[in-house]
Amino acid sequence: MRIGLLTGGGDCPGLNAVIRGVVVKGSKVWGDEFLGFLDGWKGIIEGNSRPLDAESCEGILFEGGTILGTSRTNPYKSPDGAAAVARNFEAAGLDALVAIGGDDTLGVALKLAGEGLAVVGVPKTIDNDLGATEVTFGFHTAVQIATECIDRLRTTALSHDRVIVCEVMGREAGWIATYSGIAGGAAAILVPEEPFDIDQLAASLAARRARGRFPMVVVVAEGAVPKQGSLVARSDQVDEFGHARLGGIGTLLAEELEKRTGFESRAVVLGHVQRGGTPTAFDRVLATRFGVAAIDAVHEGAFGTMVALRGGEIVRVPLEEAVSQPKLLDLGLLHNVAEPFCV
Ligand code: F6P
Repeated sequence: MRIGLLTGGGDCPGLNAVIRGVVVKGSKVWGDEFLGFLDGWKGIIEGNSRPLDAESCEGILFEGGTILGTSRTNPYKSPDGAAAVARNFEAAGLDALVAIGGDDTLGVALKLAGEGLAVVGVPKTIDNDLGATEVTFGFHTAVQIATECIDRLRTTALSHDRVIVCEVMGREAGWIATYSGIAGGAAAILVPEEPFDIDQLAASLAARRARGRFPMVVVVAEGAVPKQGSLVARSDQVDEFGHARLGGIGTLLAEELEKRTGFESRAVVLGHVQRGGTPTAFDRVLATRFGVAAIDAVHEGAFGTMVALRGGEIVRVPLEEAVSQPKLLDLGLLHNVAEPFCV
C-alpha cells in the first residue's frame, strides 16, 4: 500500500516514535511505501511531502518534535481546503492516510473520513485531555519535566522564603498540574476544572507559614481561572481552530498572592520547555505501540478509527469518540490524593 502520514497541532515528545512505528512496521512487515506530508494538514493541502522509509526513521525514536513539522492549519477554514486534501491524496496515489494529532487534527480526520477518505488517527496531546484513550504519549514526558522544574523551584523557594508560582500547560484539563504537583510536593494545585478562590489560597499559605517555613510552590495550569473570573488570554490572537493563546495566570497569581500575604512571590512559566526534547522511555514505548497499531489498522481497513490505550491494551475506537468531549481531570485524584498534602 501507499500511505500518507502527517502530524498536526502542537508538537510533543513521541511524535517521531509514532512515525517510526508506522513506517518501519509498514515497510518491513507489510511492504508499504510512505509519504510524509509537511506541517500538518497544510502539507497535504499544498502538496508538500517527503518520502519516508525505514532508513529515514533511523535515530528518530529519541528525538523530540516531529521530523514532518506541524501546524494548526484547518482545511475547513479555507473554501478549497478539504477538496485540496482529497485531490492531493488522489494525486499522490495514496491508499490511506495516518493522521497523528489532537482533537483538532482528529476532528478534521473525522470529517474527511465522513467524506470517504481512508484515514486512521493516532491520539496526541501533551495535555492528556483527549477522550477515548486513557493516556496520550508526551504527557508522561511533560510531567517528568515539570516535576524536575518544581524540584528546582522548591529549593530556591525555601531558601528565600518565597512563594513561587509555577505555570504549567493544560488548557482545559489539569492533568499536568495535578501529576507534577503531586510528584513535586506542591503547596497548592490549581486546575481549569475548578475555579480557585485566591483569598482562600492566600489565607491557607499564611496560616501554614505561621507554623513554620516550608517550600511554597504553587502549581497552576495555564487554563485555571479565579472564581467569578474569566480566561486570562495573553492576546486576542486565536488559531484556526479558535483557541486563544494562553499564558499569564501564573504571573497574575504571584502578584495577587504577594499583595494578599506580604510574602515575596515569583512566577515561572514552564511553557514550551514541557513540550520540547526527548521523550521518556514510557512515551517512546507507548508511541511505538500506537504507530504499530495504526499501520495494522490501515491493513485491516479500519478507517475512521483511532488507536487508543485502554486497560493497558491498544484498541481501536471510532474517531467520533475521541473528539466528542475533552477528557477532564479525575477530580478524585485532586481532592483525595493531591490536596491532603497541600496547604
Ligand atoms: O498542545 C496543547 C498546548 O500545549 C496547550 O497546553 C497550550 O495552550 C498550547 O498547546 C500552546 O500552543 P502554541 O505552541 O501554539 O503556543
